[in-house]
Amino acid sequence: MGYDKTVARNMSRIEARKLSVALLAGCCLVILTYFISMSETTVDQQPSEAFGVGADEEVEEQMLSLQKPEREKKTEDAHETSAEERVHDDSSSTITHATAKEEPTETNKPNEVLIAAERSDGERIQMMKPPAEPICDFSNPRTEFCEMKGDVRIHGKPSSVVFVSPQQQSNEWKIMPYVRKQMENIEKVSVRTASSPEGVPSCTINQTVPAIVFTLGGFIGNYYHDFTDTLLPLFMTARQFDGEVQFLVTNVQMWWFGKYQQIIKRLTRYEFVDLDNSDEVLCHPHVMVGLRFHNDLMIDPARAPNGYSMTDFTKFVRSAYSLEREYAISLREQPDRKPKLLLVTRKGSRRFTNVPEIVAMAKGLNYEVVDEDASFGDVAGFVGMVNSCDVIMGVHGAGLTNFVFLPMNAVLVQIVPCCELEAMATHTFGFPSMAARLHYLEYNITVDESTLLQLYPRDHAVFTDPQSIHKLGWMDMEKIYLRKQDVKLDVNRFRPVLQKAMDLLRR
Ligand SMILES: *[C@@H]1O[C@H](CO)[C@@H](O)[C@H](O)[C@H]1NC(C)=O
Ligand SMILES: *[C@@H]1O[C@H](CO)[C@@H](O)[C@H](O)[C@H]1NC(C)=O
Repeated sequence: MGYDKTVARNMSRIEARKLSVALLAGCCLVILTYFISMSETTVDQQPSEAFGVGADEEVEEQMLSLQKPEREKKTEDAHETSAEERVHDDSSSTITHATAKEEPTETNKPNEVLIAAERSDGERIQMMKPPAEPICDFSNPRTEFCEMKGDVRIHGKPSSVVFVSPQQQSNEWKIMPYVRKQMENIEKVSVRTASSPEGVPSCTINQTVPAIVFTLGGFIGNYYHDFTDTLLPLFMTARQFDGEVQFLVTNVQMWWFGKYQQIIKRLTRYEFVDLDNSDEVLCHPHVMVGLRFHNDLMIDPARAPNGYSMTDFTKFVRSAYSLEREYAISLREQPDRKPKLLLVTRKGSRRFTNVPEIVAMAKGLNYEVVDEDASFGDVAGFVGMVNSCDVIMGVHGAGLTNFVFLPMNAVLVQIVPCCELEAMATHTFGFPSMAARLHYLEYNITVDESTLLQLYPRDHAVFTDPQSIHKLGWMDMEKIYLRKQDVKLDVNRFRPVLQKAMDLLRR
């Protein structure tokens, strides 16, 4: 059956992606370096805006900087603020993945006890006692994650976690409870070990379920970041407990619990604790600080609890919102039906300037077109419409995050604005949608389709030397390419992409 072939092809792509994710974890080779910077607009996002579904939000993403392979170069430029990450390049796929997580680092190396042993040939040798499980994993370039089982006490207001265990050497770490560890405006959580309870605050509340400590600071409030920075990492960290887990949260933003209540309810049956405003000493038998994270909107099943994958996540969110469609339309089985195309329009920058022309072209190809700006108050109502679609198309932006609600086998078409934003665009939505078993099509606009041509002469460096703009840092780059640019789609040049999407639904 043609459909199986498609799935098989997609699966092999997913396998390739898995390897790439593993490579990222190994972080042996840095070819692309992305910088993330804090944008005032995201950080100061108003709660009133937060109830939108986000087509109009920026993907305050990584600043593309091909020139800066060394992370040490960070923050020499005032504009390249808070954070930075390494992202693999496909050309690095030939390097074998050498080290994964859980390598003891200088700070968390356990007591090494030399013991004498006798080999079978009688010669005495010295052996290392097997090291105790390290508590914290610092191997991921993006995150820090600690996990403790036993007598763990969390003192709310100072955000201090103490693990009392006679096996542990005294040690202390400062952990960023957010999946971008270079973030600067988030309080770190202190995690320390104590070999005896002496001097450690006594429990004022004893709980029997595991706890996860994380923050709702950072870029939360941007639809894309809500998913890649909290909801997916929470799924990876909490889902395995099937609701029997409590969230201990810093930088609480109440709207987040309302907006994503369907998802949160499925992850925990317990009230969250506002750690910043709690003076209790909470005791849990199992505590995680930080969230599991592999890559943006990606899961590497080999490293995830229960082998979770992106399709497990999308299946989970479909179920949380009671979305019915698991698979997109098959035009082979139903050749007379019109596939439904969601055209994600934006209100701010990166708008289509010729929506009616695009709609007419798509209708001419026999699509039923839904043209939405996605500024809906209730996520639940909107995602039902998304799930009813077979193709979603839009200019690079947070609204494309809605792909997580599409049925499998559907098509995501990302329109990439000029100039040289392709790597960022593919990283943000390309790899993730393919891992979710969607088809992914990318359309790079030409300079002629960019409204930047009305602002800069054609021989300006903006067009002739985009790297010189990228090199200025994220803030300057985004001001031009992401904030000032709209797209006048050349429907004749674009038409084959929608034809290809139709072909993909026909298999
Ligand atoms: C919590 O449990 C510990 C150990 O069993 C006990 O000593 C302590 O009194 C308990 N605290 C509360 C508030 O129940
Ligand atoms: C878009 O541009 C990128 C980078 O130049 C390239 O790898 C990709 O193949 C292009 N996509 C299409 C559909 O032309």
